[in-house]
Amino acid sequence: MLQRVRALRDGSFLTLAIESSCDDTAVALLEGQRRIRSSVLSSQVESHSPFGGVVPEFASRMHLEAILPLIDRALDEGKISDPKRDLDLLAVTAGPGLMGSLLVGVMAAKGLAQAWDKPILGVNHLEGHIFANVVNHADLETPFLAMVVSGGHTEVVLVRELGSYEVIGETRDDAAGEAYDKVAKLLGLPYPGGPVIDRLAKDGDDRAFDFPVPLSSSGKVEFSFSGLKTAVLSQVDKLVAEGRTLPVEDLCASFQRAVVRSLVSKLDLAVSLTGVKSVAVSGGVGANSALRGELLSQRRWKAYLPDPFYCTDNAVMIAGAAYHGWMRGRRSGIDLSPSPSWGITDGV
Ligand code: KG4
Ligand code: ZN
Repeated sequence: MLQRVRALRDGSFLTLAIESSCDDTAVALLEGQRRIRSSVLSSQVESHSPFGGVVPEFASRMHLEAILPLIDRALDEGKISDPKRDLDLLAVTAGPGLMGSLLVGVMAAKGLAQAWDKPILGVNHLEGHIFANVVNHADLETPFLAMVVSGGHTEVVLVRELGSYEVIGETRDDAAGEAYDKVAKLLGLPYPGGPVIDRLAKDGDDRAFDFPVPLSSSGKVEFSFSGLKTAVLSQVDKLVAEGRTLPVEDLCASFQRAVVRSLVSKLDLAVSLTGVKSVAVSGGVGANSALRGELLSQRRWKAYLPDPFYCTDNAVMIAGAAYHGWMRGRRSGIDLSPSPSWGITDGV
């Protein structure tokens, strides 16, 4: 106890965090709020790729195999020889995500918390994505707008202060990352679609096809990507019916242009509606090179982006959210259980 009080005071508070909500198993050790002592990850992408998406039963089994060796590696690389003595907090993603995947992380964290006699804190994965920027940028101050744009979510959140979140806009249907994955599938490209479309788009003409920018004049901060996916599908069907070779790079570039224009124009709108001029973007699609280029080259507001590694799922962001949650007085018990359908305002 004395040791923990001392750690709080001198900023050496050590959080070990586990993330296993979807198809990446990740563990990180964070000192204080920003010093990354270790961050390790085991990706399942190659195993799910032949199926064109994440197979939940497969995912939980692979988390089970990966998790304990990863925890060992994170402790090792973080130079922790005696976790019972040195750690201050065990953090774990409690939701949203796949039930079986979340369960593996939560059970591992609970087991270790008991074995090492440490407190445990369940973390909201979406709050975690927001904290990717908090950990990466010491100059990011509240209030700010956060856009979480991932495989399961596309939302704009007003962060009045850390821990206080108001959703001011979200997708009506598919998430942006989901649209990337579905468009990749219909173009015969592997899962996950985002990185491969991003790469192919670099060699394509983004004006080759005039795909619609979803809800561009709705006047609301809202997104919709399923119509855009259908527009790509119709174009592909037309080209196939005409017997033409698919100009895959042009299709990727034109699709990506519509996605990026939608995301950036709705951020513009969110800034003008709220008057908040700091925008932190995170989530897998935040790794997209066209989106990053657009966000960082405009001067209408200040854009914050984590390094691409911290856009996609990782455990550093979970540790960052846990550290702040703990300082705000959040506590979980050993009865912690997964909450697959949490929204951003749940469990924070
Ligand atoms: O945040 P994340 O790792 O997991 C979720 O919480 O969903 O996001 C994964 C999503 C996938 O849909 C993937 O296709 C997309 O992020 N993604 C990208 C890029 N890298 C990953 N989308 C566009 N461009 C990228 N470079
Ligand atoms: Zn995520």
